[in-house]
Amino acid sequence: MQEKSDYLFSTSVQIPLIAPVPTLYFFDNMLDKKTLIATENQSFQPQEFFNDQWKVYQKILDNNYMGHHEIYSVLEKFLLSYFQQPLKMLDLGCGDASFSAQALLNTNITSYQGIDLSIPALEIAKDNMGKIQCDTTFTQGNFSELIPELMLTQRHSFDAILCSFALHHLSLEEKDLIIGQIKELLTFNGVFILIDVFRQAAEDRETYLRRYLQSVRQDWSLLTSQEYLLLENHISTSDFPETQQTFHAISQKYNFSRFECLCDNVSNATQILCFYR
Ligand SMILES: C[S@@+](CC[C@H](N)C(=O)[O-])C[C@H]1O[C@@H](n2cnc3c(N)ncnc32)[C@H](O)[C@@H]1O
Repeated sequence: MQEKSDYLFSTSVQIPLIAPVPTLYFFDNMLDKKTLIATENQSFQPQEFFNDQWKVYQKILDNNYMGHHEIYSVLEKFLLSYFQQPLKMLDLGCGDASFSAQALLNTNITSYQGIDLSIPALEIAKDNMGKIQCDTTFTQGNFSELIPELMLTQRHSFDAILCSFALHHLSLEEKDLIIGQIKELLTFNGVFILIDVFRQAAEDRETYLRRYLQSVRQDWSLLTSQEYLLLENHISTSDFPETQQTFHAISQKYNFSRFECLCDNVSNATQILCFYR
């Protein structure tokens, strides 16, 4: 099999071995009612779908199963030490922004822009960010489509661009493209902060899925069997994590000045990577 990082420097088009299935995002595509009805459940109700998926994700956050407390405490320290000046942040796939809001509370944030596919999540995000004194904008849509639009109007505008647990749904080609575009949105001292799940070096997707789902079965003990099945279906159809090495190669391809891992292997798979413009 071709090494992932080889792809970054090759001019040929790589066809992913397993194509991403964009219809089964974890509470991502609740707005895409038609596709979900066709693929999932003939009696699909968007509001119920949102409620069910949201409840499971909320339960995961409440029990810190994905390590949000540790990760966002590292993020908060980083934001406080790196950004002494007023800070403008773009949050891609912000969800309800509950953890972003906590991490930003004591920073010098002057402007926050959140993008998400889900209108209900954005409604909650507005409330969560309401605690913070700064300009806020919330945009419903697919960040892959909205970023090219932002490049026309907000080039070099954001000091920090955060993408937390939302990039792993994309194919490698899409991740590569979007990181190149994100660089154009950053100010000259700006940082792209990627929080996500990662494969280990030389681990293939199948091995990663087996390992990750095994730890979910073992450690996420308060999930009901129905919730576990929903999650297993979501992870095995929609998660396409890369290795840290692949992201390092992407950072080099786009001439980021520095690449750093702030924290590694939280909950068996999560890392925080910083791409310094
Ligand atoms: C697992 S949640 C993470 C939410 C939050 N960032 C966090 O770390 O807790 C993923 C979020 O990303 C959003 N999302 C996923 N893909 C997206 C895309 N292409 N465009 C916009 N939002 C997306 C989903 O709707 C969902 O709210």
